[in-house]
Amino acid sequence: MSRRLRGALSLPGDKSILHRALILAAMAQGDSVLEGRLEGEDLRSTWRCLQGLGVGISSDAKRIAVKGRGWRGLKSPLRILDAGNSGTTLRLLMGVIAGNPMKATLTGDSSLCRRPMGRVAEPLRRMGAAIELSHGEVAPVRVAGCALKGISFTSPIPSAQVKSAVLLAGLLASGETTVTEPAPSRDHTERMLPLFGIHPKREGLRVSVPGGLRLGRARLRVPGDVSSAAFWAVAATLAPGSELRLLGAGANPFRTGFLDVLERMGARIERIPVRDEGYGMEPVADLLVRSSSLHAAQVAADEVPGLIDEVPVLALAASQAEGVSRFRGLSELRLKESDRLEAVAGLLTSLGGEAQVLGDDLVVKGPRRLQGGRVLTQGDHRIALTALVAGLLSPGVELDDADCVRLSYPSFYDDLKRLC
Ligand code: S3P
Repeated sequence: MSRRLRGALSLPGDKSILHRALILAAMAQGDSVLEGRLEGEDLRSTWRCLQGLGVGISSDAKRIAVKGRGWRGLKSPLRILDAGNSGTTLRLLMGVIAGNPMKATLTGDSSLCRRPMGRVAEPLRRMGAAIELSHGEVAPVRVAGCALKGISFTSPIPSAQVKSAVLLAGLLASGETTVTEPAPSRDHTERMLPLFGIHPKREGLRVSVPGGLRLGRARLRVPGDVSSAAFWAVAATLAPGSELRLLGAGANPFRTGFLDVLERMGARIERIPVRDEGYGMEPVADLLVRSSSLHAAQVAADEVPGLIDEVPVLALAASQAEGVSRFRGLSELRLKESDRLEAVAGLLTSLGGEAQVLGDDLVVKGPRRLQGGRVLTQGDHRIALTALVAGLLSPGVELDDADCVRLSYPSFYDDLKRLC
């Protein structure tokens, strides 16, 4: 027996965009103001690391004020910088620190210290950075910043973290830095730079930034987190009688792949554009979601970068859809906060669903009536949030660690109470 969801919801500020906004504001000359709800432990990690680098940051309920330290103006931290669970924090800051005249050690929790850092260290070293990784190419990472030179880097993986780390270092380097990707990843860094007075050149899968230019201060509004919206979009689609309006969600096409897939499955989601210049180059939309029955989807490998964080909740949707869904080419999912590919298959099977990992593909058979059961989240917030959505559809879903939702969406439970 599921609980229907009705009403309207404003979302926490987009995590990906806020990480970048905090970092660029820290690198800019003067005081920047960011408008948006900063929520979640991951963003606190970026905040704390930047404070460790000498950046003054304060906030009230609606705004965050950042006192930028200017071009190559960050200070050597007195302590090790702890990025917690946040890969974006650690990888993007590797790029920034590499180009500042200072030394720092970056670490994280046990999950982050298992994730690959060579993918960022390798291009930064080509720019001249001195980077030491721990055994297995992981964190803790020691970075000795120096004068970098721009490079032309062809990334073997479509990763916005790798691309952004190199572009941020490129801003501090001499000459131009170019990154070419094998497939497009989210482009928040590129879209945000003009607000700070820097205009990247973009052509297909290639983006270049000029080195040596000073970033000006900025004022920007941060859209709602469309990755958090995804949990509600699936919940409202699956819970009969639901009608939910998700207000001010980011509608960047490199993030909304899950909406395209849900629509292909038969979901009824209206995207109502929000016009507001404060968001800069980021498109924003209200999402109106009405419940509907679903049929299976085939998700191609080249769609994956645009929905990488939404695979768990899409797999839950697939478990309730008529037919066999297949998500192809999910190797990158194994390198997230957990082995998310195994974790999501485990989530569905522990609740009575039918899911199988075949190589790097995930195959989900539906519809299966979910039963109660215990979900092992592996401390992964997106697995936990997916299990909480499953819990709306069937009673008796238990999580071994529900607390990890604090990483991206601590107000999830409050929102749930208001909507049910
Ligand atoms: C992110 C990029 C993605 C995504 C992560 C956030 C970003 O990671 O999974 O949650 O903010 O750049 P990859 O760049 O490793 O694909």
